[in-house]
Amino acid sequence: MARAQSSTLDIPEAGKIPRHIALIMDGNGRWARQRLLPRIAGHRRGSEAVRTLVESATRLGVEYLTLFAFSSENWRRPADEVSMLMQLFISNLENEISRLHRANIRVRIIGDLTRLGARLETLITEAHALTSDNTGLTLTVAVNYGGRWDILQAMNALLRAHPEKAAGEITESDLTPFLSMGEAPEPDLFIRTGGEQRISNFLLWQLAYTELYFTETLWPDFNAESLNEAIHSYQQRERRFGRTSEQCCAPDS
Ligand code: IPE
Ligand code: IPE
Ligand code: MG
Repeated sequence: MARAQSSTLDIPEAGKIPRHIALIMDGNGRWARQRLLPRIAGHRRGSEAVRTLVESATRLGVEYLTLFAFSSENWRRPADEVSMLMQLFISNLENEISRLHRANIRVRIIGDLTRLGARLETLITEAHALTSDNTGLTLTVAVNYGGRWDILQAMNALLRAHPEKAAGEITESDLTPFLSMGEAPEPDLFIRTGGEQRISNFLLWQLAYTELYFTETLWPDFNAESLNEAIHSYQQRERRFGRTSEQCCAPDS
C-alpha cells in the first residue's frame, strides 16, 4: 500500500530504479517551429511521446509517473493554443483510457479542475472511477496545476477539516495528506526536457530532495533511450538527505 514518505522527516529508501519520476514535458512548440509546423503539431507529437514513456516506465518497474501537462500559468498563452490543448487532452483521455485500464494503470489527474469545462471534468471523474483499483503504474497528470496552488489548497482543506488547530500547531505530517500527491512517495527523479533549468511552479513541496535532471532533448523526441539516460544519471547520484557521504553511501568493505 502506498504511503506518503517525507524526505525531511525520514530517510527514504533509494532503489536503483526510481520509484517515482516527475516530468516536465517541455519543448513541443520549439519542436514544431523547427519543422515550420504549427505549435499544436508539437503538442500532438508530445502526446505520442507520453504513450512511449508510459510503456518504458512500466517495463522498468517505475511505480509512479507524474507528468506536468498544463500549468496554472499556461492560461496566459494565446486563447487558440489553450483551447487546442484542452481539446487534445479530451481526445487523449477518450482514446487512451481503455488501453491504460487494460494495462492495469491507475490514472489520476491533479490540479484545479474547476476551470476545465464540463466535458473534461466528466472524463476525469470516469477515468478515476475506472482505474482506481488498478495495481500497476500510477500515472498522474497535472492539469491546471501549480505548486503554490497545491500548498494553499492543502492548508485551507486542513483548516476546514481541523478547525480546532491553532496557529503554531500544524505539522508537516498534518499537511501532507491534503496535498494533491498526498498518497504518493515523493519523486526520486525529476526530469525536464527542452533545456530550461527551472521548476516552473511544479511540485514545489514534493521536490524537496528529488534528484533533478535537465536535458536539451525536446519533449516530442524523448524516447526509451532518453529515459534510460536520465535513470543512468540518477544512478550516479549520492542521495545523502542531509547526512555525510560516509554515513549514507560509503561502499561496505
Ligand atoms: C510544453 O511545451 C507543453 C506545454 C506547456 C503545454 P511548450 O509548448 O512549452 O514548448 P516550447 O517551450 O514553446 O518549446
Ligand atoms: C511548464 O512548461 C509547464 C508544462 C510543461 C505543462 P512551460 O513551457 O509553460 O514553462 P515556462 O513558463 O517556460 O517556465
Ligand atoms: Mg515551454
